[in-house]
Amino acid sequence: MDALDALLGRSSAPRLTDPAPQGDARERIFRAALRAPDHGRLRPWRFLVVEGQQRERLGDALACAMQARDPQTDEGVLAKLRGNPLRAPLVLLMAARISEHPKVPAIEQQLSVACAAQCILLAAHAEGFGGIWRSGAIAWSPELHAALGLAADEQLMGFLYIGTPAAAAPRPPEAALTDHFRAWIAP
Ligand SMILES: Cc1cc2nc3c(=O)[nH]c(=O)nc-3n(C[C@H](O)[C@H](O)[C@H](O)COP(=O)(O)O)c2cc1C
Repeated sequence: MDALDALLGRSSAPRLTDPAPQGDARERIFRAALRAPDHGRLRPWRFLVVEGQQRERLGDALACAMQARDPQTDEGVLAKLRGNPLRAPLVLLMAARISEHPKVPAIEQQLSVACAAQCILLAAHAEGFGGIWRSGAIAWSPELHAALGLAADEQLMGFLYIGTPAAAAPRPPEAALTDHFRAWIAP
């Protein structure tokens, strides 16, 4: 697929099914993440690959974190959280591994992971798959960090759900360039 076609044609796929990318396609998609802009070559990208029955364990971790955060959480909410990772055959937990650096603050390392996430979404689209970046109410909580067993220097940036789109994604409404770009004139 032409690069601009991939950029302009990608949209998020909320409903994903089997198969997930495998073999060479998966390797190309993952390699695309490692081409994200990266100040200082710190390589902050950490992706934990969750598939098969481990998705159920991930669901347990989500529910456990929510319960730790709010012991009064409704059972329906916990059941939904347990089921969330089953919405796609492949889930990537995205984390930024933050290094101390005199010129590269944590925010730049987090932004690099965000770029890597977009690289994955674009590469998955170019390979004929779909994906969506999700977060959720507890994504940024220390309780989830602990439940996932992330290292002290890793920050969760969200979840990438990857698979085969179950339905054609609706075309997002066109945005006007002029709403987002304007000439800068020196004040
Ligand atoms: C940091 C981040 C977190 C997001 N979290 C969610 C989420 O939890 N649930 C959701 O439905 N969409 C979430 N989105 C939005 C979707 O990934 C997607 O961008 C949106 O549905 C628009 O679709 P599009 O990418 O086709 O324009 C998130 C996006 C970003 C960048």
